[in-house]
Amino acid sequence: MEKVFVMDHPLIQHKLTLIRDKNTGSKEFRELVKEIAMLMAYEVTRNLPLEEVEIETPVCKTKSKVLSGRKLGIVPILRAGLGMVDGMLSLIPAAKVGHVGLYRDPETLEPVEYYCKLPADVNERDLIVVDPMLATGGSANAAIQFIKDRGATSIKLVCLIAAPEGVKAVREAHPDVEIYVASVDERLNDHAYIIPGLGDAGDRLFGTK
Ligand code: URA
Repeated sequence: MEKVFVMDHPLIQHKLTLIRDKNTGSKEFRELVKEIAMLMAYEVTRNLPLEEVEIETPVCKTKSKVLSGRKLGIVPILRAGLGMVDGMLSLIPAAKVGHVGLYRDPETLEPVEYYCKLPADVNERDLIVVDPMLATGGSANAAIQFIKDRGATSIKLVCLIAAPEGVKAVREAHPDVEIYVASVDERLNDHAYIIPGLGDAGDRLFGTK
């Protein structure tokens, strides 16, 4: 089964070009990331199961479809993942939101969890982990592992831009996780930035730098 999905919808691609542009300021960048996340939520939820219920319209009784199956959760990887939460929630407002924060230990270079708060029923939810940039895959892999360690069994990863290296790393470490991206770019540079990418997503979202 295919597990890596590149979302080539024209609206997503257009907005992606705008956020890549270094002249796009934080306000517009934030708005665009939110809009792209919303469009990606639409695609990621495309195969959610439905069930028929009976309702009554003003005219007659009828059968119609509603979502069935497991509840959803959104898990941003701090800090840049926060920029994608509101867009996702605007389409799936009943989803609960967990948070995972990681830093890289300067000595061991291993990702260390400094914050993890997830919905109590995490094992019963389909989780959507969000982070705008999938670079080496180190943070995504660690975050996914932390979430699995707390009982999660169904995880999708949604990123705006990925490097081939990051996609490969996540596929190898977590073959059960579907990956949704708007673009797989060329490569990583020596500082683990995605080329061409969009720079530091957290800095651009929050105006730090
Ligand atoms: N994180 C970012 O914000 N940008 C990159 O290019 C790589 C990792």
